[in-house]
Amino acid sequence: MKLYTCLRIGVSFSVLLVVFYFYSIKILNNKDDVSVEESHKVTKSLEVTTDRIEFKRNDIVLAVVACGDRLQETLNMLKSALIFSKEKLNFIVFAEDNLIESFNQKLSEWKTLTNHAFTYKVMALTFPVKDAEEWKRLFKPCAAQRLFLPNILKDVDSLLYMDTDTLFLTPVENIWSYFHKMNSSQMAALAPEHEDPNVGWYNRFAKHPFYGKLGVNSGVMLMNLTRMRAFQWSEYVVPIYRKYKLKITWGDQDIINIIFHYHPGKLYLYSCRFNFRPDHCMYMSVCKPAEKFGVAVVHGSRGFFHSEKQPVFQAIYRAFEEFRLGGDVFKDFYQPLEAFLEQVQNTNCGHIKDIFLKNVRLYINMEDTS
Ligand SMILES: *[C@@H]1O[C@H](CO)[C@@H](O)[C@H](O)[C@H]1NC(C)=O
Ligand SMILES: *[C@@H]1O[C@H](CO)[C@@H](O)[C@H](O)[C@H]1NC(C)=O
Repeated sequence: MKLYTCLRIGVSFSVLLVVFYFYSIKILNNKDDVSVEESHKVTKSLEVTTDRIEFKRNDIVLAVVACGDRLQETLNMLKSALIFSKEKLNFIVFAEDNLIESFNQKLSEWKTLTNHAFTYKVMALTFPVKDAEEWKRLFKPCAAQRLFLPNILKDVDSLLYMDTDTLFLTPVENIWSYFHKMNSSQMAALAPEHEDPNVGWYNRFAKHPFYGKLGVNSGVMLMNLTRMRAFQWSEYVVPIYRKYKLKITWGDQDIINIIFHYHPGKLYLYSCRFNFRPDHCMYMSVCKPAEKFGVAVVHGSRGFFHSEKQPVFQAIYRAFEEFRLGGDVFKDFYQPLEAFLEQVQNTNCGHIKDIFLKNVRLYINMEDTS
């Protein structure tokens, strides 16, 4: 009798377990159906992304998307992040298939050199939508990838997205700290596209809505993916693209501008010193916060890291390129940078060269924090 009761309980329990198992699978599947509505055609690379990325809630995650000839430039940006940061960094690099191996090689070498100061993951490009090929080609190669990060990186709470043509002149954690300045409705932080309406692009030329008076530049973007998922960010991306396709000039950046035009309360606007571009100094110095607190991130947009036209930007890029991780930041980075900048101090951006050195000096304790 007792044995029979035990058996009965056992059997019922197993049946319950099985039912529960199938039920959970169903819930999980439904959840996916909702968030990736258009996932009928999933690119082959999606498989790569299904391994869980184990990040903890407060980890600093830096993401970048690299295609075409952007390998060296991207590595230079990642190097600049490693030079100044004291916190452990976690890199996610989305790369075109033919670049994946080179990234893996260099980053694993750097990991040894820096005594495991960071973790990294190199992933294939993934577009969880129909027309993946069209999205890949939109604007500069692969820039549209970033619009889908909330869907692809389901296990990541927040990240700092960097264009490949950017360089840190301050520890990453200084920018990350802006997450704590956002209020509960803000899901991203960006810098304005311009400071001055007389030379602004969006206010003079755009044929579509954009954020605020002068639009935003998307090159250095704090993204709270948890909030973007709750907002159902990617549900906005595809319809907006369809509607404005023929009117957008700067690809993904325009789409971001259109979304925040309609939802301005969801964006935190930080200063131009977090995304300092040639426009800020090529005619006159218009980014006042940079004069006061120094440039935090320099952005060599439109190829200016590699062009004779903006020697200051080229000089900064070169100083990072020639520095070897593990070297002496003062002797092997700061001093050469200072020397390169002195050589170009008679150019447009050269007369304010100290704004590029200020944060580096802080890092090596050459300057008072006051
Ligand atoms: C992102 O938003 C979620 C939900 O509001 C919040 O719990 C989390 O702390 C935020 N992440 C960061 C880095 O601020
Ligand atoms: C957050 O700040 C934005 C911009 O100042 C504002 O529009 C929004 O209402 C604020 N949200 C909350 C919850 O305070």
